[in-house]
Amino acid sequence: MLSLFPETAAVEGGELTVGGVRASDLAAEFGTPLVVYCERTILDAARAYREAAPDALPLYSLKAFPNVALLRLLAAEGFGADVSTLGELEFARRAGIEGERIVVHGNNKSDEELRAAAEAEVRFVVLDALDEPQRAAAAGVRRALVRVTPGIEADTHEKIRTAHHGSKFGLPPADALAAAAAGREAGLEVSGVHLHIGSQLLDPRAGLETIDWLKDFAAREWVPEVVDLGGGLGIRYVEGERPPAIREFVAALLARLAEGWPGEPPQVILEPGRSLVGQAGLTLYSVGVVKQASEEVTYVAVDGGMSDNPRPQLYGARYSALLASRADEEAVRAFDVCGKHCESGDVLIEGIRLPEPRRGDLLAVPATGAYTLSMGSNYNAVPLPAAVLVADGHARVIRRRERLDDLLRQEEASG
Ligand code: LLP
Repeated sequence: MLSLFPETAAVEGGELTVGGVRASDLAAEFGTPLVVYCERTILDAARAYREAAPDALPLYSLKAFPNVALLRLLAAEGFGADVSTLGELEFARRAGIEGERIVVHGNNKSDEELRAAAEAEVRFVVLDALDEPQRAAAAGVRRALVRVTPGIEADTHEKIRTAHHGSKFGLPPADALAAAAAGREAGLEVSGVHLHIGSQLLDPRAGLETIDWLKDFAAREWVPEVVDLGGGLGIRYVEGERPPAIREFVAALLARLAEGWPGEPPQVILEPGRSLVGQAGLTLYSVGVVKQASEEVTYVAVDGGMSDNPRPQLYGARYSALLASRADEEAVRAFDVCGKHCESGDVLIEGIRLPEPRRGDLLAVPATGAYTLSMGSNYNAVPLPAAVLVADGHARVIRRRERLDDLLRQEEASG
């Protein structure tokens, strides 16, 4: 179970610690729910990418968790940013990421977003529609890639597949070539292609298939100077899942790309999100009511739920949990962990074996560093939790807890 947690997680004196800080100290100082990020785990993931692909441009896909402190941490490791909205671009800029290390995506970019990309002098805008080359050029963009959908069905949840025929992202090959030609005509420098086939990939097969497809495309149609392979590597949410290690996954893709590439070796861009920050994060909740609802089901209700992690509702995502305050006690039976929201579907984990939970216990849910707070909501007017970064026995707030005032301010502004 501890192996699902950040690398520095340990059980000391019967209690979960992360980065040398006790769960109970974190809860006492910062409150719950609390998303706790381990600096060591993020740095090790970043370094694994750098070592496996020293010549590539690595970008943090900041939709996984847009956060200035984490962006700065990753920038110091040589990472730029992949952004897909004005908001994400602003986070990257506030973190001091230079335009040369920013790539702008989006299936429906506004003129404002294209102008902001041009002003930031970003490395590339990734063209995603047939009317975009002219619009990008008119907005002042100079350099572009084109997103192509090879028609590959990645082995992941259908809602996070992106390279299949019929995807709302990118363009089928003939349209992608037309967009590249239109871009050049409009004065853009179109340097290559972008492919992102899906997220939470648990094996490299679809990635390798995509690279084979790309080599064939390059040999027949156009040899891109730049190949942006997107992100997609999965992480472990529950025991038994075995995603490839970052080094193996990246090395396998790069080796396949190099083998028989029909021209000069391309400049490679990588855009990991989840595999950089997913395992580094965990959520600490306080246990409230424990309710035996039927002969089979006992609910353990926590002080958050679908507002801080909607992935179970969206993707049927599975999670695990540890009773952080009594981490060395034997599990006695299975419980359903539910949230506090007004939905029967607000269930975070079904059938998790735990010691008998009591009001006031701390429950730690691992692997919540990616796509949780970034997809959170204020449903039931619940403010979003704080996030802290822990290292060497210290914790610092990297995103403050929302207050009720933050929610009400939007209304006061409207009089
Ligand atoms: N690049 C592009 C163009 C993307 O669309 C994405 C993710 C990434 C990179 C980063 O992918 P990653 O390495 O994180 O797999 N909300 C979903 C995941 C959506 C992914 C969207 N695109 C979830 O919670 O599973």
